[in-house]
Amino acid sequence: MKRIGVLTGGGDAPGLNPAIKGLVYRASEHGMEVVGLYDGWRGLLDPPPEVLPLDRAVVRRWDRDGGTNLGSSRTNPFRSRAASGEYVDRSREVVRNISRLGLDAVVVCGGEDTLGVAARLARQGIAVVGVPKTIDKDLAGTDYTLGFDTALRNVTEIIERSRTPAGSHGWVQIVEVMGRHAGHLALWSGVAGQADLILIPEHPFSYQKIYRHLRERLGDTTNVARDSPRPRYSVVVAAEGAYAEGGELVTVDGGQDAFGHARLGGIGEALARRIMNETPYDARSVMIGHPQRGGAPSPVDRIMGMMFGARAADAVARGEYGKMISAHGVAPACTLSLVDLACVFGGLNTVDVGSHYDTERYHLRGIGM
Ligand code: F6P
Repeated sequence: MKRIGVLTGGGDAPGLNPAIKGLVYRASEHGMEVVGLYDGWRGLLDPPPEVLPLDRAVVRRWDRDGGTNLGSSRTNPFRSRAASGEYVDRSREVVRNISRLGLDAVVVCGGEDTLGVAARLARQGIAVVGVPKTIDKDLAGTDYTLGFDTALRNVTEIIERSRTPAGSHGWVQIVEVMGRHAGHLALWSGVAGQADLILIPEHPFSYQKIYRHLRERLGDTTNVARDSPRPRYSVVVAAEGAYAEGGELVTVDGGQDAFGHARLGGIGEALARRIMNETPYDARSVMIGHPQRGGAPSPVDRIMGMMFGARAADAVARGEYGKMISAHGVAPACTLSLVDLACVFGGLNTVDVGSHYDTERYHLRGIGM
């Protein structure tokens, strides 16, 4: 009987618990056992880890749960902070603990960083299968990553809700959303929520262009008569990784995580300040932050999670290791296959600016916005 360990690493995402349920249910059909490993790769470092035995009864209700019931971390075993404060390679502990726990394979649910660790372990001969998740939908090798659809729903709702205060007060309302390298979430939530301008990391923006668009929409003042057909507010969606031409990424602090990423945040506030100083308009910014990936998974994330998890169980049953589950086509009407895990090193899947982004209007190309 094969014994599978499953872990979830990186930022949590709705769809992870359905994936674990799909894995456990399908594994039981193959006569395999599954145990949960806590808090991402941290759950395989010393001291010898605790595990959570998972069977159909335990995970029966997990399809409805957001986040991850196994916990998560941004631990990088290849670059882990020691008590001395220095970074050290602790990957040997992971290998040792996989064998101590009697695991035949580890199913790793994660994004670029967590799966990058899995790919490096696969090179050393460790039996791993990857399940792609990130609300950013920026992983190479797959058309869908768990969490994107729920985040899209959450962000669209906030854009909608930001409309009434902005309209009542006559503001330019900036909504800052996640998206470090890729603007998929910003672009598609901006379209769904009908934002006026959408700023994405793939194309540096010009303040002057933004001001020109605002002037075209709002005229010289937002203080217009109530019966005027002219709108008195505007909604702008900015990905956290968006930046101005010749400018830099805006970060929360100077720190970096174990994968060398800065914590991004604040471009919305910076833009609001510039608009207030350099145009006649009043502006506000909201950084949605972590709740954008919160709450119960959407139907798409439940379906895709279950399917990804089940496909991972099939891969283990057949001994197809060093692979990631990949979706082709638009979820949920899509087909699944296995791709080499090393594809996560081949660059990210970002917005195709030429096909989708109008660099004059800062919007989806071809919809007249
Ligand atoms: O990696 C996915 C992501 O959504 C990035 O866009 C964002 O920078 C990051 O998560 C923020 O998450 P956390 O605060 O957990 O690091």
